[in-house]
Amino acid sequence: MEIKVEVGDISQHPARAIVLNLFEGVKRPGGATGAVDKALGGAISQLIADGETKGKLNELTLIHTLGRLPSPRVLVAGLGKQQELKLDRVRDATATALRHLRRIGVRTVATIVHGAGVGGLEPQQCAQAIAEGAVMGLYRFTRHKKKNENEREIDALTLVELDRTKAAALRRGVATGRILAEAANRARDMANEPANYLTPAIMAEQAQAAAQEAGLECEVLEREQMQELGMGALLGVAQGSTQPPKMIVLRYRGDPRRKATLGLLGKGITFDAGGISIKPSAGMPERKRDMSGGAAVIAAMWAIGRLKPRINVTAVVPAAENMPSGSAIKPGDVVRAMSGKTIEVVNTDAEGRLILADAIAYARQQGLSPIVDVATLTGAMAIAIGKAATGCMTNSQALCQKVIAAGEAAGEKFWQFPLYEEYKEHLKSDVADIKNVGEREGGAISAALFLAEFVGDTPWVHLDMAPTERSDKHQGIQVKGATGIPTRTLISFVLSLARESVLAQQKGQGR
Ligand code: BES
Ligand code: ZN
Ligand code: ZN
Repeated sequence: MEIKVEVGDISQHPARAIVLNLFEGVKRPGGATGAVDKALGGAISQLIADGETKGKLNELTLIHTLGRLPSPRVLVAGLGKQQELKLDRVRDATATALRHLRRIGVRTVATIVHGAGVGGLEPQQCAQAIAEGAVMGLYRFTRHKKKNENEREIDALTLVELDRTKAAALRRGVATGRILAEAANRARDMANEPANYLTPAIMAEQAQAAAQEAGLECEVLEREQMQELGMGALLGVAQGSTQPPKMIVLRYRGDPRRKATLGLLGKGITFDAGGISIKPSAGMPERKRDMSGGAAVIAAMWAIGRLKPRINVTAVVPAAENMPSGSAIKPGDVVRAMSGKTIEVVNTDAEGRLILADAIAYARQQGLSPIVDVATLTGAMAIAIGKAATGCMTNSQALCQKVIAAGEAAGEKFWQFPLYEEYKEHLKSDVADIKNVGEREGGAISAALFLAEFVGDTPWVHLDMAPTERSDKHQGIQVKGATGIPTRTLISFVLSLARESVLAQQKGQGR
């Protein structure tokens, strides 16, 4: 889909549909909606007076213009109360409106820039949100389905703005929004892919392709190198599968004069059957998405390579299948992690923390700091918080705050959980330095405490995205299936760190 910005009067736009908006409680719409209302002989204010159109969030009213406007259709999208308007609503309203228009076969759409008028939001951010809403809301995963002739796509979306002085900012917003949303869709594509089409080797190939497109360096560690490095935890998880594990490393050097490099780590279990501690069969197909954290990290790196912020970032994604077999690791087995710590594997289904233990050790050996890891780590996190937010935990409050703030900008919620020292005791083993599962209660916290044992004093934020990896319905920018969370948060976090370090450097030079 092409997305462009035009200066002009939207009521005169010839697109097959024009999208306007309405705030809740407004009786006589102003701005572009008001102008179109007049051209339609007061049709919109009549709908409001009759109580059919209220401007409520997610409400859509479709009006045929019957020759009174160049465009055959007007779609009025409700934005809710004006004082509650946020960028999230601009994203979601755009997505909902465009999905509706696609369903009825509309191929070209013009939209006003929701939020940039009386909404009082920054025009560039509104344009970014509209591009994100369009690209993410219209996402479909159709690779394995027969082509359906009725499933047409929207070819072009035009943002129409009367004020010429805003056009440049709007174009910048659209360009950024496109990259962020395309990154999220890349993460969705990888996560939605069935496990027979996305093995660790194929995930590594896709990372390589992303690196090539975005100008990143890509290195893939093979089993032999893992053996040399002593990655017994990752190798232990992988040993039950015929698919060899891959440790995917992507490097972006946007600030080559400095050594400091941020580490983004993502869990890359391409299928989690649970291993010998096998999962129940209901719900098991869903575990093809147990690499969602790794996918988000790879997709974020692709966007970072294209946006070119002044910062160094290295991604580390341990990829493996967790399968039961004659060669699989058994409950009670002891493995030696790269850090030298021995781990008693009391439950082979707690494999994410095992592969991350070695990824963290590798990241620290590479000198990465701070570290952010992203993982579909525990069902316990989803029980604790539900589907609305990703859980986060940290040993560095200031860093965690920055991730949460980046999430706010991206419209992705994070909620912090405590790392209570008391629960460390749950991880004591009789035969090894640590065991991989504690008690059922507080399971998301003890999982994070397990990772903390390998993180040491490196500043670190852990994101447990088990609650948010999947959407079970179409809602705003979310469509059924993989969400692409927290790809946009990671990108926005990296951009904010880069802005900060550019500022710090300028200060250092007395500018
Ligand atoms: N990948 C799962 C966690 C998960 C479950 C993510 C459901 C998304 C949806 C993880 O590897 C796992 O199996 N965790 C176990 C840990 C338990 C054995 C301590 C869990 O949560 O049940
Ligand atoms: Zn598991
Ligand atoms: Zn898992």
